[in-house]
Amino acid sequence: MSSEFDPKNFPVGIIGLGMMGSSIAVCMLIAGHPVTGVELVEGALAAARLRINNHFKLAEEKGLLTGKVEDYLDKLHISADLAQLKDCQLVIESIKEDINIKGEVFKAVDKIVSKDAYITSNTSAIPITDLQVFVSHPERFFGLHWMEPAFTTRFLEVICGEKSDLDKAQFLYGLGELWQKETVLLKKDIPGFIANRLMYAMYREAMHLVDGDYASVEDVDRACRNVAGYFIPMMGVFRWMDFTGIASYRKVMKDLFPTLDNSDAPGRLINKIVDEGGLGITNGKGFYDYTEEEKEVWQKLYSDFSFEIRDLTLKYPADIVQQKLKEKKEEK
Ligand SMILES: NC(=O)c1ccc[n+]([C@@H]2O[C@H](COP(=O)([O-])OP(=O)(O)OC[C@H]3O[C@@H](n4cnc5c(N)ncnc54)[C@H](O)[C@@H]3O)[C@@H](O)[C@H]2O)c1
Repeated sequence: MSSEFDPKNFPVGIIGLGMMGSSIAVCMLIAGHPVTGVELVEGALAAARLRINNHFKLAEEKGLLTGKVEDYLDKLHISADLAQLKDCQLVIESIKEDINIKGEVFKAVDKIVSKDAYITSNTSAIPITDLQVFVSHPERFFGLHWMEPAFTTRFLEVICGEKSDLDKAQFLYGLGELWQKETVLLKKDIPGFIANRLMYAMYREAMHLVDGDYASVEDVDRACRNVAGYFIPMMGVFRWMDFTGIASYRKVMKDLFPTLDNSDAPGRLINKIVDEGGLGITNGKGFYDYTEEEKEVWQKLYSDFSFEIRDLTLKYPADIVQQKLKEKKEEK
């Protein structure tokens, strides 16, 4: 990102101030952008304001702010009218995961913003190539995939569709740094993008172990926490294989891959839970059961934990070794 870039001169529009749109708005405001939030569903505005205020309270408590909450909120304009996005240079759509609804919104936005404004979608799974068709100049259209709550998490995926311009993608990739993300770039559209492909491969194998009665839900979770949990936030997978000897990984792959689950449908247990109305922690019925009290404690603890993980990933960023070597050189 060029040192001349000033977020104050780069207004951002967010469409849909639901769970994700609200936390993305807070992330953008903390980074210094003026933000226009558009909520198209009548009656949803009050909840959006409350969510944004609560996020700011937490951000202040956790020391993420350099100024006063009111000063950040002064840069936020909330409206029910897409026309208010006219001057935005980046639009982030975060509405209901429905291609028809998103498509109508993109067609309208396309008529409002300038033709070089970036238009992006926070879709979880709709191919970006399928969404680009709704705008003119599809080369400025990307997936911008966040992780909740977007003002604290470090993940951001920039996703190219068939017609996206890679140079423009690099610009968004660079902006990620200003937003305190460790951005990743998906150069070619593929279902699930990067993160969900990795995660769903693991979910499938986890289900297989439980459905096949090889292990309990609790023990699969314990294995995952105590193996992946010890290296993934610092190294990911490739560096971990480098670190622990890739020749043996290749050998194990030859023997193990043919035995891994490759089913193309959800497993028995998840089907049973969902068919019986289980939603997970939301209604207390999932792979585990939760009382109201347990639910509250889990949610509070997870919020605390996510800040600790954030601190750890800030302490060990992807370029930690380059930083250490540079420091060493400067000491000499
Ligand atoms: N929740 C997550 O962890 C997460 C993570 C990454 C991506 N996403 C994606 O972000 C997007 C938003 O998800 P969310 O979790 O914030 O959902 P949400 O239900 O909290 O919010 C949905 C938003 O869409 C709006 N909306 C609903 N129907 C609409 C309509 N007909 N026209 C216009 N707006 C409408 C709602 O008012 C709200 O602002 C989805 O595409 C989702 O797949 C969610």
